[in-house]
Amino acid sequence: GQCGSCMVLIDGRAMNSCLLPAASTVGKKIVTIEGLASGRRLHPVQQAFLDHAAFQCGFCTPGMIIGAVALLSNNPNPSAAQIRDGLHGHLCRCGTYPRIVEAVRSVAAELKEATHG
Ligand code: FES
Repeated sequence: GQCGSCMVLIDGRAMNSCLLPAASTVGKKIVTIEGLASGRRLHPVQQAFLDHAAFQCGFCTPGMIIGAVALLSNNPNPSAAQIRDGLHGHLCRCGTYPRIVEAVRSVAAELKEATHG
């Protein structure tokens, strides 16, 4: 539970898998970073991380993306401060936080555009 890199969605809630006994997930829907894409089409948050070069080594990226997906499902239009708060607990050793926030903000802007036209 130190870095957030292993985060997965359990019934839509972002949780650190390293802290979860496997038995506690029986019967629950688990989505990993690999499960976000639809075939060859990346999830919008995955695409935004690519488009904004929101990673360097990529160690934190799966957890950051899963955390961002959960954040956006609860708050589709977060401010930069809310993104930083929402991704608290994710450690990026490379310090790409500004680009990560930018990537998440871009998805929020796309969602807003799609919703309001
Ligand atoms: Fe290297 Fe975040 S990109 S730890």
